[in-house]
Amino acid sequence: MQIVVEHSEALQGEVQVPGAKNSVLKLMAVTLLAEGEYRLTNVPDIADVDTMCDLLRALGVTSQRVNTHELVLVNTGNITPVAPFEQVDRIRASINILGPLLGRYGSADIAMPGGDDFGSRPIDLHVMGLEAMGATFALNREGVQATARQLHGAHIELKFPSVGATENILTAAVLARGVTSIDNAAREPEIVDLCNMLVDMGAQISGIGTDHLVITGVQPEQLHATDHEVVNDRVQAATYMSAVAVTRGNVFVRGARAEHMEMLINRFSEMGVMITPQHDGLQVSCNQRLHAIDFATLPYPGIATDYKPLLVGMLAVSSGTGIATENLYPGRFRYVDELMKLGADVRIDGHHAVVRGVEQLVGAPVNAPDIRAGAALVVAGLVATGKTTVSDIHHIDRGYDDLVGKLAGIGARISRQ
Ligand code: UD1
Repeated sequence: MQIVVEHSEALQGEVQVPGAKNSVLKLMAVTLLAEGEYRLTNVPDIADVDTMCDLLRALGVTSQRVNTHELVLVNTGNITPVAPFEQVDRIRASINILGPLLGRYGSADIAMPGGDDFGSRPIDLHVMGLEAMGATFALNREGVQATARQLHGAHIELKFPSVGATENILTAAVLARGVTSIDNAAREPEIVDLCNMLVDMGAQISGIGTDHLVITGVQPEQLHATDHEVVNDRVQAATYMSAVAVTRGNVFVRGARAEHMEMLINRFSEMGVMITPQHDGLQVSCNQRLHAIDFATLPYPGIATDYKPLLVGMLAVSSGTGIATENLYPGRFRYVDELMKLGADVRIDGHHAVVRGVEQLVGAPVNAPDIRAGAALVVAGLVATGKTTVSDIHHIDRGYDDLVGKLAGIGARISRQ
């Protein structure tokens, strides 16, 4: 199966932003913390959710999609805290079971996390935080074995605001004895979403949305199952926004939340994209060739590394030269080779990409190297002459809910074949 994209006219109409992959997977993991039935709504229809369902099933939490975007998970209390390699290896977010398992069951045996292959993805910050709370770790090539008779609160300062480490420390702290504080915590909207669900379950958390979280441990019987609506996906929103920008279209991106993407909206505006926040979405239009800008990826509220392939794709067709600086993942420029097959003029220099805008990209066969880069290649294909065929689309399917259908719905010439 491939995605075939043909040169498309200005995109028009309305597109709905689905729930966030980087939130729902973590919300699913915290069902390990308390028995009962959970109902998640606005669940994206993506392969990673199915993988997480398989992983949770192996641990003892059952799940059922009651409709395309609604998932019911049941924790009957019969949990085996051992995660088999086959599931863990398929997604990075499987490491998010570590905190809940340690906090609730005092042990976790997890194969090493997989996920996108973009450079080494250590878990030293997760381990450092959980050790400060009394956990003991054995790390080897096969995986992570962690034990803790009773976690206790601790003061933890992260040397980098890691999303995954913040989440694991937070979810472990919910049932730890005493108070845990996390300084320099990550504060992505998906972490706020996780905190909100935990609070609904009975957790005591303050500082939500800031880089200083304080968690007061509660007893297991004080936690209960809950219903929760998954926050919308700012990266999928950005994907549609960039598609509108390069095709010089005019689309209402329903569910895109300006307050979650302020920095990105500013950058898009500098490039010449007009973005008007409205109730429940953003009106996005562009009637000119984009102007090049320089940008650097940073932890939230900075420009997310997940936006970068989209921005580089936009720079590829902008007037002028722009420099993209990657500060999070050194390996995340590999997709540039694919973009260059479409005629993009990009030079990599360490963690910088220098992009000289060209008048016209040219359709070609390309491979999706990971989720976001795959989507960026699809977007680039919209403004390449002729036909662009994107292979390895299982990467895109991991994180995009009907990318092809949604783009076709706003006028793109695109299909799966
Ligand atoms: C999450 C997102 C991913 C996004 C990333 C950064 C999910 C499933 N994935 O990944 O899409 O690109 O945030 O916004 O939500 N690091 C360490 N030691 C650690 C942990 C991280 O050195 O213990 C480093 C990583 O190697 C990387 C950087 O910190 O260079 C960012 O990692 P982190 O914020 O933890 O991202 P993830 O949670 O893996």
